[in-house]
Amino acid sequence: MSVHIGAQPGDIAERVLLPGDPMRAKWIAETFLQDPVCYSQVRGMLGFTGTWQGVPVSVQGSGMGMPSASIYTHELINDYGVRSLIRIGSCGAIIDDLNLGDVIAAIGSATDSNMNRMRFDGLIDYAPVADFSLLRTAADVADRRGIALRVGPILAADAFYTDRPDLYDSLADYGVLAVEMESAAIYTIAARYGARALTILTVSDHIKRGEKMAADQREQGFSDMVRIGLDTAIA
Ligand code: HPA
Repeated sequence: MSVHIGAQPGDIAERVLLPGDPMRAKWIAETFLQDPVCYSQVRGMLGFTGTWQGVPVSVQGSGMGMPSASIYTHELINDYGVRSLIRIGSCGAIIDDLNLGDVIAAIGSATDSNMNRMRFDGLIDYAPVADFSLLRTAADVADRRGIALRVGPILAADAFYTDRPDLYDSLADYGVLAVEMESAAIYTIAARYGARALTILTVSDHIKRGEKMAADQREQGFSDMVRIGLDTAIA
């Protein structure tokens, strides 16, 4: 096993979906994958491998925030040979023309996290971006499935609760669609170790309008996102 994942070499597929919530990893594995097997329960951060349309795919919980997501991204790539990582999760919209349940693909990820600044001694603001081939595939898959997919930049924030909502207004002025908490670290670590990464998100709340998705709305929106993620992973 690696430090934080209790799997043997070969237990984890080259293509991994990364939801933040381990219980969502379980739901995805049991709802969408054929013959899912749980390979890790370390710290309750569940991971499963099964198949989607005959191709092995794993689903690994990443936890919330960039420190946690960094650990799983690093170990999946470096200890288990994972080549494609697709984060699937929820986000809070900050622009007017997004609604609850809309699905987003993050072309790039601005961040207020210090993790990337530390990599370059604070001298360079590295731009974490999605893998183009995964992004193009996701856009094609969404088209084929008739699901509207909004592609644009997002913010990966360290804090869920902010004292500076005015910064979200400024980011929206620059075309940033929404806020979540993991993508910048996943993109950066994948780039560093030669893997591919993409983030697909469902709008679960609208930060400016104070709206939140109801439970039944979540399932439908999340199902669209999972299908795009799985089809993209195996393409
Ligand atoms: N902020 C950060 N992450 C999120 C949010 C939010 O408002 N909603 C869903 N994920």
